[in-house]
Amino acid sequence: MINPYQSDELNPLFIADADTRRALTKEADSLPAVLADSSSAASAVMLGGGYFTPLSGFMNKSDSLLVAERMRTTDGLFWPVPIVNRVMSAPKVEAGDRLTLKDSEVDGNPPLAIQTVDEIEELTEEECRFIAEGIFGTTDDGHPGVQTFLKQGRFVISGQLQVLNYSYFETDFPETFRTAAQIRDEIQQMGWNKVVAFQTRNPMHRAHEELCKIALDRTGADGVVIHMLLGKLKPGDIPAKVRDDSIRKMVELYFPKNSVIISGYGFDMLYAGPREAVLHAIFRQNLGAAYMIVGRDHAGVGDYYGAFDAQEIFRDEVPSDALDIEIFEADHTAWSKKLNEVVMMREAPGHQKDDFILLSGTRVREMLSAGESLPPEFSRPEVAKILMDFYRSNQVP
Ligand code: ADX
Repeated sequence: MINPYQSDELNPLFIADADTRRALTKEADSLPAVLADSSSAASAVMLGGGYFTPLSGFMNKSDSLLVAERMRTTDGLFWPVPIVNRVMSAPKVEAGDRLTLKDSEVDGNPPLAIQTVDEIEELTEEECRFIAEGIFGTTDDGHPGVQTFLKQGRFVISGQLQVLNYSYFETDFPETFRTAAQIRDEIQQMGWNKVVAFQTRNPMHRAHEELCKIALDRTGADGVVIHMLLGKLKPGDIPAKVRDDSIRKMVELYFPKNSVIISGYGFDMLYAGPREAVLHAIFRQNLGAAYMIVGRDHAGVGDYYGAFDAQEIFRDEVPSDALDIEIFEADHTAWSKKLNEVVMMREAPGHQKDDFILLSGTRVREMLSAGESLPPEFSRPEVAKILMDFYRSNQVP
């Protein structure tokens, strides 16, 4: 199997030994504490699960600025998005002190992790905008990721981390939440060597299904890891539980047996397009994937990124010695009325736009809200039914 990112071994920061973890959880109650917001908590969960190997904790201000500007930490590690613990006010602690991160996402704010403080630094408004520009390519607060980012605390706490649990991900998604180490184990148990990862934050329609099948076929991989985001999304996106159900149904009915691992990870969506795609590739390498599919508007939102910017960044800005995982570049994929099948558009000669069935995410949501069924060429009927039932019972606007 492929090596973890820039490492021979995964570096999960979760304390695996149950006795040690119990003792640390007890100690956490007596330490000074900060409330980790959703983003910091999710980063701790990712660090805990080994997804952010080789990082050993949260970055400081100079790393964050350099990562935002040049995708490098001050130690020279290629990394696309700052991984930061940002809080609203500076806790009264000193370098070397241990600090409890309380989980804002779980009732009663139980301890999530213990951080050994390196530094506490304040970001200026200008620095926050500089970092946002680097990650998102914009500081427009109409961008949902920028909006969340600019509202986060200004105090950056850097330092190593000991993770005590996996927040709500483990309890809310017991069948689906998996760490990088668990997925590596599962790949091994399946007897696979080479796998393709599919990132998703949406239900999977026929285009997504076909992308996975084409990638599987053309890379000669042994299986696909469908790896769905389980963290926070922007309003209007479909909740993880519903996506999970619809993906499971599609795999059950339309994929060959034992060709797919369905799994999920605990991180909030950034909507950072190309930069997020590179982060996605890093943590897919960490879970053991040799390939990751990057299609149209990967991790995008609105018109902030070009449709294939997330493919270009790998060609133009990722140094050739950084990643071992390869990108499977997919073109816009849709149902061809002429060929009666789902195809990559560039591989369908003699077609005009009208020859394809193309529905935007917005149009799909409109149709579901109006109780209209999705065309069978676009969505498998069993998947469409799960989505329609959700819209009907929740009266989503
Ligand atoms: S994402 O934010 O997680 O990228 P989504 O779940 O919609 O959103 O997409 C998952 C993956 O499928 C991404 O790589 C995306 O580029 C790709 N994709 C989605 N729809 C299409 C499509 N119609 N044609 C080509 N690629 C697509």
